[in-house]
Amino acid sequence: MTNNSPLKWWQRAVVYQIYPRSFKDTNGDGVGDLQGIIENLDYLNDGTANSLGVDAIWISPFYPSPMADFGYDVADYCAVSPLFGNLATFDRLVAEAHRRGIKLIIDWVPNHTSDQHPWFVASRRSRTDPLRDWYIWRDPKSDGSLPNNWGSFFGGPAWTLDKTTGQYYLHQFAQEQPELNWRKPELRAAMLDTLRFWLNRGVDGFRMDVIGLIIKDAELRDNPLNPDVDPNLPPNDLFSRLQQVYNLDQDEVHAVIREIRGVLDEFDDRCGIGELWGELPRWVRYYGEQGDELQLPFNFRLIWQPWQAGAIRQAVDDLEGALPSFAWPNYVLGNHDQPRLASRLGGQAQARLAAMLLLTLRGTPTLYYGDELGLENGNIPPEKIQDPQGRNLGAQRTRDVTRTPMQWNDQRYAGFSTVEPWLPVSPDYQARNVAAQRQDARSMLSLYRRLLWYRRQQPALLGGRYQPIDSAAPDCFVYRREADGERRIIALNFAAEPRQVMIAASGRGQIVLSTYLDREATVSLGDITLRPHEGVIIE
Ligand code: NOJ
Ligand code: CA
Repeated sequence: MTNNSPLKWWQRAVVYQIYPRSFKDTNGDGVGDLQGIIENLDYLNDGTANSLGVDAIWISPFYPSPMADFGYDVADYCAVSPLFGNLATFDRLVAEAHRRGIKLIIDWVPNHTSDQHPWFVASRRSRTDPLRDWYIWRDPKSDGSLPNNWGSFFGGPAWTLDKTTGQYYLHQFAQEQPELNWRKPELRAAMLDTLRFWLNRGVDGFRMDVIGLIIKDAELRDNPLNPDVDPNLPPNDLFSRLQQVYNLDQDEVHAVIREIRGVLDEFDDRCGIGELWGELPRWVRYYGEQGDELQLPFNFRLIWQPWQAGAIRQAVDDLEGALPSFAWPNYVLGNHDQPRLASRLGGQAQARLAAMLLLTLRGTPTLYYGDELGLENGNIPPEKIQDPQGRNLGAQRTRDVTRTPMQWNDQRYAGFSTVEPWLPVSPDYQARNVAAQRQDARSMLSLYRRLLWYRRQQPALLGGRYQPIDSAAPDCFVYRREADGERRIIALNFAAEPRQVMIAASGRGQIVLSTYLDREATVSLGDITLRPHEGVIIE
């Protein structure tokens, strides 16, 4: 990527993920809704540095759904669940977002539907139904056992027997999420039309759920056993006992993704983001050999690293080294499936450093709602667990902890709702909320705001080269971003103790932003002292 080529919106953008159930409830049913997003667009970006300053929002599913997996079980791809609003609310959301220059990305769930989707209702009716092979049905083996050894991500086998027709259907998530057969041309065409439906309504892009799973091995062969299984794995976690060889990242998936991209390219400037988990060589293929697949295969590599300077730098350098010239990097540190960032990294100071890292690396960052307040994992009493993963695989694995209501103010239910929300509000809401952090010039929210508004004015941070610097300081990750002769240096101390960093033998620079938000000073590049968990941007 040369510095002179103008950047696309999705290259400049900072994406903010909204889990709609948990953002803001406006009709008093305890569940967030689209109107709640509309009412808070100014919080996200009102065009001034008083607002957070994100450029795009990605909204997790709001389709009609029985909510077996909280919306990732879709019963109609071309409608809005009454829980969240209706198409008119959605159209207003598009208009209101666009009026503020905010791009709108929606979730698209192509691998499976709800078992209540009319397609599956038809498909399960008889073996000869025209929609039968829109899903993946198999006879039991001759001894009556399951068609293969695959496990469900949420525990138990990936197959459920349907008594009416005596065949098993495939579901690698909940039993209520039967998997679609993307080898069937009619299904493919129907799904591609669901993209056009939303593109015509003005959405700017899609986040595509588990896109690497949509094509499975044609023979559905058994997966090999995973040689290093964690001995503490719950007995019903059959998924993690296997290596994921025949169920995902099949070569044939790339032709399908090129078709999907073709649909996006029927429209101007739309963006495809994919949820993809594979190792680097497999993952990088999703950009397409000619850049003709996804613009942004989600990059979760930093989530997998220990929070150490060396490991994080290595992951960044490996990514930069693996990308073809046309491929644009991106980074994700948290989402609705991961523990809260501040909890995972061990504290608020670490989370502040993470904010600076995420917003200064080369590539598109995705933030998760509430991370800008430093939200921590919620306390979910066992009887309140909602998530199927938590209900089946144990409280340790519940994703509810990261989906607690957004904390707007110190009123009852944190200003999220007027009634008891679907998940408990975190007990820290009286201190940790938007209203309080807005008043506090050194809060996490202020840090995100400062970083976001600084970033958008800096060509070096938006499109500039990334170059790591050997700083001769243990536990520090230091890098340079540079465009058109403008240079910014980012120095991050991952240690809980102070560190002396040497960036250059001589010369001076100006600290313009510290994660502590308490200093802007001229420093000597030969000797910079960073406090515990401190990060700085130097001009
Ligand atoms: C990935 C989504 O992020 C997750 O929340 C969901 O449970 C699975 N895909 C199944 O759709
Ligand atoms: Ca509501």
